[in-house]
Amino acid sequence: MSLLSQVVETAHAIERVDGPICSATPPRERAADYDRIAAGYDMVVGTTLYNRLVWGNWARHYSEAAQRFLAEAPAGPLLDCGCGSLVFTANAYRQSAALDRLVLQDRSLGMLRRGAKRAANGTFLQADAAAMPFKQEAFTGVMSWGMLHVFGTGSPFLGQLKRVSA
Ligand SMILES: C[S@@+](CC[C@H](N)C(=O)[O-])C[C@H]1O[C@@H](n2cnc3c(N)ncnc32)[C@H](O)[C@@H]1O
Repeated sequence: MSLLSQVVETAHAIERVDGPICSATPPRERAADYDRIAAGYDMVVGTTLYNRLVWGNWARHYSEAAQRFLAEAPAGPLLDCGCGSLVFTANAYRQSAALDRLVLQDRSLGMLRRGAKRAANGTFLQADAAAMPFKQEAFTGVMSWGMLHVFGTGSPFLGQLKRVSA
């Protein structure tokens, strides 16, 4: 838990849930909407067809963007907020030396468990993006893929990202 102890506010309790996954969420609040759709997410959203039809994008562009981010990231802890199941990013993360300083955060344990199968050496944390447990300016670099449409503009999400970015 050493990367997490570096970036999480001391007031927040972190508990290991299973394997490489920890949680900053109280046990009775750990269920999340994406738990039920995690397998379907990978099967549908992870496909080239879905990305071409819905987003007009190629799935490989997400992976390439994550690769570029890690290659250019400054020294220090990094965050993927809303990392999900790593359906697009796992290859980039597994191949990067920066994986050992990357926190993979998501609200859904179902999504994180799928992510942990793809990148077992990752540091996974269940936590709410609208109330992040991280210290101010904890991260030298922050990524968040496919999250803006989940929250909308009125959410504290963007303010939280700014608060934890150095
Ligand atoms: C559209 S998916 C994107 C996942 C991943 N970044 C990707 O590109 O495949 C949205 C993700 O946001 C997560 N999420 C939803 N609400 C959240 C919250 N309040 N805090 C953290 N993650 C949240 C979901 O569990 C899900 O994994």
